[in-house]
Amino acid sequence: MEERTLKIQKIKNGIVIDHIPCGMALKVLKILNIEGDIGSTVSLVMHVKSRMGWKDVVKIEDRYLEEKEIDKIALIAPTATVNVIENYEVVKKHKVHIPDEIKGIVRCMNPRCITNQKEPIVPEFRVVSKDPVIIKCKYCEREMSSEDIIENII
Ligand code: CTP
Ligand code: ZN
Repeated sequence: MEERTLKIQKIKNGIVIDHIPCGMALKVLKILNIEGDIGSTVSLVMHVKSRMGWKDVVKIEDRYLEEKEIDKIALIAPTATVNVIENYEVVKKHKVHIPDEIKGIVRCMNPRCITNQKEPIVPEFRVVSKDPVIIKCKYCEREMSSEDIIENII
């Protein structure tokens, strides 16, 4: 049966982060520092039907993402697609991709790690597994799961 109402409007310019795993939309907003008045219109739907099961969707008008931000999204929402919208058209679509090495976007959760001492050392991790996401600190070998990562995004 045809849907009678639109759940969420199309946007004119900005980004649509689509196919976010259910329940992760608020975490996506958190890692993009979207809180308070950010000066753009943000729309969010949680638990909507997609071709394969259920998903969350986040739309941010008049905002574009840096490579680092897309890598952060990949770590917590590996199925997400980032669509760039210009004048109502999807002009770019890319599936996020978990890099093999993570540098400078996650803090090591081990307080004794050398990356958490006074001398500034950029935290670096190897990706041990992509599904589920597990990363391992190059300095202290501490492994972090996706829940740990969410709490330690820089
Ligand atoms: N979208 C939007 N505003 C626009 C154009 C697209 O909000 N002006 C949204 C669509 O609602 C969809 C996403 O951007 O959630 C991607 O659009 P599109 O590529 O047209 O949809 P699909 O082909 O279904 O995408 P996919 O194959 O990635 O699922
Ligand atoms: Zn460490």
